[in-house]
Formats: sequence, structure tokens, C-alpha cells
Amino acid sequence: MAAHRRPVFAANWKMNHGPTQAKTFLSEFLVRYAARDDRTVILFPPSITLAAAREGVRARRDIALGVQNVHTADKGAFTGELSAALAADAGAAFVLVGHSERRHVFGETDAQAAQKCARVVEHGLTPVLCVGELLEQRERGETEAVVLQQLRMGISMLAPTAARRMLVAYEPVWAIGTGRTATPDDAATVHRVIRDALAEQVGVEALDIPLLYGGSVTAANAATLLEADEVDGLLVGGASLDAAGWATICST
Ligand code: 13P
Repeated sequence: MAAHRRPVFAANWKMNHGPTQAKTFLSEFLVRYAARDDRTVILFPPSITLAAAREGVRARRDIALGVQNVHTADKGAFTGELSAALAADAGAAFVLVGHSERRHVFGETDAQAAQKCARVVEHGLTPVLCVGELLEQRERGETEAVVLQQLRMGISMLAPTAARRMLVAYEPVWAIGTGRTATPDDAATVHRVIRDALAEQVGVEALDIPLLYGGSVTAANAATLLEADEVDGLLVGGASLDAAGWATICST
């Protein structure tokens, strides 16, 4: 990673850790991970846990919170859904957009990801746009095309000034929850493609956009991945659920 970009350590808890578990997690994590101003730590708890997480990190301004998804609308009759406006009111600063589970389990499209990024920015939150190819797409040599399509569509409704403030996470779908991590070289290659495409869209400020890698990151491989060119941070699922393990990763 480049020295001028602060590393980002983001925990995607997915559908794990309710308010009670979050409280226990945070009491353990916060003693093991002291605030450091050379990195950014973001937690994405389930939205029902956001208030408990917010309470848990009240004394720690260094830890930011986010939600894992929002709807494309601001409000209305969308039972079970959550908007960027509501997430902002509840204290979220970041929003995961287009996570592979949203795309492949819930059928979310690139057009929806674009609308969500726009809503997120409108409400003063920062989108973390997730992109990544399926195994069969990789095997067909389509990785670059898939990632570029998701990226270009995802940011298509953002003004360059807004796109410069976002984060992008490359999460190859075949590496998520499988124990099969991309090699640092694989990650660097795709991150370079993403960086170049961002530069075309937003100019030289693309150099400041943090590019995160996600997919079977553990305390054992975090340092090697972060050493790869263009890898500015990690988006971690399973290995972020254990407070001690997550503190180790954040201390990488
Ligand atoms: P795992 O770290 O469990 O592979 O999940 C990655 C992920 O999807 C983070 O968003």
C-alpha cells in the first residue's frame, strides 16, 4: 500500500452479533485495541445492533460505524428495509453497497448499487462500493470486465467530487467465507485496474481513494495482503467476529 493512504480495517459482521453480543465484543475489543491515529477502523454490525455498538464505542471517536445495506428510496412503505437517511440518523457514517451477498443472494443489480451510492452520498454518508467476480467468471478470464462494469455502474450517479470521497472493496466472490484467499498479487492486479478506472472518472484524486480487499482475511494473512501494491485496507467477515482476533487484525 502507499504510505500516504491510511489503512482501513473494516469488520462486516453480516447477520451476526445482536446488541448483547456486541456489548461483550466491544468490551473485550476496546481493551485490546487502543486508539491509533494512523489507521481507520470501521464496524458494520447488523442494523438492529447499531445503537448498542454506538453506545459501546461512545468513548472511542477513532471507531466508526456503518450499515451493511440501504434501500434506494429515502422512506416509505418498504417493510423490513432501511434507508440512508435512517442510517445517518442512527449514527452510521459508512454504508456497504453492492456486497456480493446482496448481489448474488438477493439479486441486487448494478443499477440499484448506483442508486444506493447516490442516496448514501446525499445523506452525508460514505459508500463502500463492493465489487468482485464469481469463480466461473474468473475461470473464463472475465475478472477485469466484471469488476470494471460493477465499478463504473456503481459510481455512475456520483459527481466526481462525491466519488473521490468513497471507498471501494474488491471481494472476489470465490474467496468469501471459503478459506481461499486471493494472493497478494491477484489482489494487487485487480486493485490496479480499479485505481486506473477511478482515475479516468475522477482524476488524480483517485490516488487517495482507499481500496480494500476482502475474502477470507485472517490475522495470519492480513499483513501480507496489506503489503500488496494498491491494497489500502481489509474488509473482514468471519475473522472480525472474534474480539481478540479482530484486535490483532486491526493492529497489523
Ligand atoms: P470473509 O472474511 O468471511 O471471507 O467475508 C468477507 C466479506 O464478505 C466481507 O464483506
